[in-house]
Amino acid sequence: MAFLEVRDLTVAYGAIQAVRGVSFTVEQGQIVSLIGSNGAGKTTTLRTISGLLRPVAGEILLAGEPIHRLPAHEILARGVAHSPEGRRLFARMTVEENLRLGAYTRKDEAGIVADLDRVYSLFPVLGERRRNKAGLFSGGEQQMLAIGRALMSRPKLLMLDEPSMGLSPIMTQKILDTVRELRDEGTTVLLVEQNALAALGLSDHAYVIDLGRTTLSGSGRELLADPRVQEAYLGEGVAS
Ligand SMILES: Nc1ncnc2c1ncn2[C@@H]1O[C@H](COP(=O)(O)OP(=O)(O)O)[C@@H](O)[C@H]1O
Ligand SMILES: [Mg+2]
Repeated sequence: MAFLEVRDLTVAYGAIQAVRGVSFTVEQGQIVSLIGSNGAGKTTTLRTISGLLRPVAGEILLAGEPIHRLPAHEILARGVAHSPEGRRLFARMTVEENLRLGAYTRKDEAGIVADLDRVYSLFPVLGERRRNKAGLFSGGEQQMLAIGRALMSRPKLLMLDEPSMGLSPIMTQKILDTVRELRDEGTTVLLVEQNALAALGLSDHAYVIDLGRTTLSGSGRELLADPRVQEAYLGEGVAS
């Protein structure tokens, strides 16, 4: 059984159908990517999995159980964490205060402290600056903090929405290396990226979303080699 299964999802904002037939599965222990152009419906899909939006139709199953009618805090408590597009940090709060917000459903202080240490060993710069306010950080540091905050719920499934957005190639590589490390430690990852080249290189499996529908799927390597993907998402040069 897949760890996460999204079946024929339809999601609308009023009269606008943003997602109109998205289906994919995420196997435990894998990095699975959703790639696609701006406006394809990737963020809407993640927000629906998190319980922030309700589907018009379709199903979302976590370990075989439907979660699409559960409140967001219950979905978080079942092990699904979401690092949102744009990071959504609290600029006037410190690193540590932001991280603790990610653990708001937990009461085990000793476990929370252990997980803060884990985030600081994953991202040493956050440990060094734990008392500093998040608003002063670079884009890369803010992304580390957004991922760290999501990890504070000890997720089984970590969903990352455009973690490379606005980052330099070196910082993008650093973030994606960390994603791989988290997968290797046993966290299942659902990654959303417009940076298809970076995402596919790292993914065990990937899906293309176009105009609210899943249109192609395959291993990261298969999609990197697919002329349709090269033409639409990888730009010139890669195909030749
Ligand atoms: N809050 C909203 N209200 C109305 N339409 C929205 C809203 N958010 C997104 N949309 C529309 O839904 C579609 C999918 O958006 P989104 O899920 O953000 O795509 P992606 O993350 O793939 O760029 C787009 O056409 C977008 O304009
Ligand atoms: Mg988006």
